[in-house]
Amino acid sequence: MKKIFGGIGAAVLSGLAVLMVGMQVQAEPTRATMPDIDKLIHYTTVTRGEVTEHLMTTREAIEAVQKGQPIPAGTHVALVDYRGGKVFRYFIIEKGENWGADYDERRRTGDWQFQWFKPDGTINTAENTARCQSCHTSRADRDFLYSFNEMRRFELK
Ligand code: HEC
Repeated sequence: MKKIFGGIGAAVLSGLAVLMVGMQVQAEPTRATMPDIDKLIHYTTVTRGEVTEHLMTTREAIEAVQKGQPIPAGTHVALVDYRGGKVFRYFIIEKGENWGADYDERRRTGDWQFQWFKPDGTINTAENTARCQSCHTSRADRDFLYSFNEMRRFELK
């Protein structure tokens, strides 16, 4: 009896290990959450052909950038990608206290984590957010943001 249970346990465990290895490649939950978009400030727009992107963040983040201070933990930055007047996808980054420690040094993007959300707010599990990070790494001198200067120049009301 004992032996059979041991066998089942090992099978379940190895199945779980396969599942977890698979998850790292495909689905990629991160700590980044979907913000309440309506509460964010729209600080710049990028258009490229059919694509219109609204870049949005918090007042606190914009103020920090303008004062030359670090963007605070708890900040969301959203890139809302519209096609044909409808939301096509949300690219979201969120910063949290020491979140960078989840990644090894080569992948780390400060304390930001990345996520791709579908229009219904669910995660696009086909994306590997390491790709997001590898691109944004080139902006390490501007807190990993492409639109750092647009935040700096935005006139808060
Ligand atoms: C090939 C390079 C590249 C990849 C990959 C990439 N980004 Fe970006 N990202 C950019 C550029 C360039 C901008 C500036 C806006 C623009 O030009 O469309 C940007 C802007 C952003 C912004 C607005 C803040 C900022 O940095 O200006 C967010 C949020 C964002 N990206 C999230 C993501 C997420 C999430 C992913 C992965 C799902 C991702 N990005 C993948 C290049 C990239």
